[in-house]
Amino acid sequence: MATNYEQSNQTADETNKRSGGAISSVVDWINDRIPMTRVWNMHIAQYPAPKNFNFWYLFGSLAILVLVNQIVTGIWLTMNFVPSAEGAFASVEYIMRDVEYGWLLRYLHSTGASAFFVVVYLHMFRGMIYGSYQKPRELLWLFGMLIFLALMAEAFMGYLLPWGQMSFWGAQVIISLFGAIPVIGEDLTLWIRGDYVISGATLNRFFALHVIALPLVLVILVFLHIVALHEVGSNNPDGIEIKRKKGSVAEEDKPNFKFHEYYTSKKDVVDAIPFHPYYTVKDILGVAGFLILFCWVVFFMPEMNGFFLEAPNFEAANPLKTPEHIFPVWYFTPFYAILRAIPDKLAGVVAMGASIVVLALLPWLDRGKVRSIRYRSKWHKLNIAQFVVTFLILGWAGATPQTVFSTILSQICTVTYFMFFVLLYVYSKNEVTKPLPTRLTK
Ligand code: HEM
Repeated sequence: MATNYEQSNQTADETNKRSGGAISSVVDWINDRIPMTRVWNMHIAQYPAPKNFNFWYLFGSLAILVLVNQIVTGIWLTMNFVPSAEGAFASVEYIMRDVEYGWLLRYLHSTGASAFFVVVYLHMFRGMIYGSYQKPRELLWLFGMLIFLALMAEAFMGYLLPWGQMSFWGAQVIISLFGAIPVIGEDLTLWIRGDYVISGATLNRFFALHVIALPLVLVILVFLHIVALHEVGSNNPDGIEIKRKKGSVAEEDKPNFKFHEYYTSKKDVVDAIPFHPYYTVKDILGVAGFLILFCWVVFFMPEMNGFFLEAPNFEAANPLKTPEHIFPVWYFTPFYAILRAIPDKLAGVVAMGASIVVLALLPWLDRGKVRSIRYRSKWHKLNIAQFVVTFLILGWAGATPQTVFSTILSQICTVTYFMFFVLLYVYSKNEVTKPLPTRLTK
């Protein structure tokens, strides 16, 4: 009997043949030279996606959308931006006031930066609740973590460019952290700044890295992320592999089975549906919802009460005047709170670094056999819930002026942040889980 997948799948080849004539011969001509239709079929039209993707599976495609938005608006901003200490602040004002739709380009870009982190944090959280980092998706997760690091560097460097007070002093605080590294610290900060203080030289190099080097790295990493995903196939909210037909090339128990054999094995999968049109349509719905929220922020609240664009940044950088409080933008504040929680500078830097590295180690820290939170123990659910609360409190603590209360709270949450990983490592070995279904549920 034909599977869902076989019934509903219509190859680009067939469509192409029907359209006949000129288009078909151009497509054939291209296909004889590069595998255009084959790649389209393998990675989009016929990609066998589990049939039970839910809301949480929208954020990967949304992350691609935001990446494209950042690149396109970034190119247009670059056309009028002046990357020098003398010209940067004024050029941003010029873009906002005099360049046609310059305000829109800037707000799309600045709101896009925050949207990127909202989307990526939710995307990572999905990976955590459904155990998508577990075998065989460890490398996919690691590429994700490299993307996260590159994204943080990209956002940090972009924030210096408008050369406002917070740009300058924020960079001052973060770059000086490297000075805490023994032996090489001082030379390293000098090398990063390109000067003894943050200056036009720093702005210039950050500009080069922000507009070309890091976007290139991000695009390459996203490409590898998708290649890694399509090699092993998507996980899903049930955290079990999709079933293959008995006796098929792609049968589950076949030794060394490779997911890409689906494409050469008459697509003999039962719980999968072709990515196109099912998930392209679903993703379009996600995009529409996202754009409503995104445009609302862009048009009505681009500064988001100082969370997306901070008030001191509307004042030009002044090396002689330190702002009363220096905070990073909201998406860095959980990690900033961990840094500030520890009085010793070097220990603070190490803890902050460790809080990111430990995320990359999740595939090895989680020794559980069951992936999805749906079938895991109540301890796991509690642990994930405490992690979310901890992350939110750290985010708040890092965005408020330091007081005794915020410091103690940050210290407690720094401990509970790392406890999440320690506890996971301990209980996941012999965790009592619910029985797994044999086929995808819904
Ligand atoms: C620019 C940033 C990123 C882009 C454009 C991106 C894109 C995607 C896309 C399109 C998918 C497939 C659709 C989906 O499952 O939602 C995906 C899956 C995945 N991504 Fe990302 N991603 C990004 C960042 C990250 C980060 C930072 C992590 C984690 C550290 C991550 C981990 C994963 C995992 C584990 C999957 C597989 C999920 C599953 O099959 O259940 N990604 N990504």
